[in-house]
Amino acid sequence: GLRCSLAQLSKESSDRFPNSPKKSVALVPTMGALHAGHQSLIHRARQENDVVVVSIFVNPLQFGPQEDLAHYPRNLAADQQLCAAAGVDIVFAPTAAALYGDDAQNPESLTQIIPPAPMTTVLCGPFRPGHFQGVATVVTKLLNIVQPDRAYFGRKDAQQLAILQRLVQDLNLPSQIVPCAIAREANGLAYSSRNQYLSATERSQAAVLYRSLQAAAAAFQTGVRDSETLLKTVQAELETVPEIRIEYVELVHPETLVPLKTVETVGLLAIAAYLSQTRLIDNMLLRSR
Ligand code: PAJ
Repeated sequence: GLRCSLAQLSKESSDRFPNSPKKSVALVPTMGALHAGHQSLIHRARQENDVVVVSIFVNPLQFGPQEDLAHYPRNLAADQQLCAAAGVDIVFAPTAAALYGDDAQNPESLTQIIPPAPMTTVLCGPFRPGHFQGVATVVTKLLNIVQPDRAYFGRKDAQQLAILQRLVQDLNLPSQIVPCAIAREANGLAYSSRNQYLSATERSQAAVLYRSLQAAAAAFQTGVRDSETLLKTVQAELETVPEIRIEYVELVHPETLVPLKTVETVGLLAIAAYLSQTRLIDNMLLRSR
């Protein structure tokens, strides 16, 4: 009959032109100021696809009024060089007017994507109202424009990744989200465009985030499963650097982001903290083996 299931329909579209091998397209969405973290996503995309597109767009929708939109590092010329050297085929760097038209200044008048409330009321959500709505909206637009087979995202932004996995599932978007490992400096500090704001002293102080996650991971590997003990382990290590101001330390399920009392099989341990005016995030997956 004519009637077919969703799974059959997806297969149908890939079988339709069996003799014209389709080129796979990858998208790596970024806000520019590209560093080794972005580079690791680009390298993975390059290995797994025929065509690699990198988007560079500092998305005003995902910045709060008190956040660093105006100061966010921008260096398109250097970014283009890095992309060329990494074998990127296309750099898509639209203006805000190209993506949002005249409404870029007036986001209230735009259609936006609202992620599930339980995924935005935890971790960074309460501290960055509207942020994940802005991320979900721009990523939906980028996926619709580029129509990639695969889109690459870092585990550095674990909440963003979980929300985007859910977005693609809930809206039946035909791209696959590919999670990528966190790239770190030698001292353990996760690469971030915002690390440019840190002094040399602060960069070494910031390494305590990773040390605190490692301390909890070590406890987890010896059998500690309750959140309270694991969170206290992180906090105690963070407190060894008095300049660090903790925003939150939380343990949640990595896909649903539901807070966990104990870790059954897998948990996401996540931190946000300030060092001077710079906001840092880091996280680690805890998995029993
Ligand atoms: P941006 O902060 O530029 O990050 C772009 C991508 O690089 C994200 O998927 C992020 O998780 C990943 N990334 C950043 N630092 C990383 C690191 N140290 N290791 C591994 N991956 C890392 O995230 C955004 O931009 C924006 O929210 C965006 C998705 C582009 C939407 O505007």
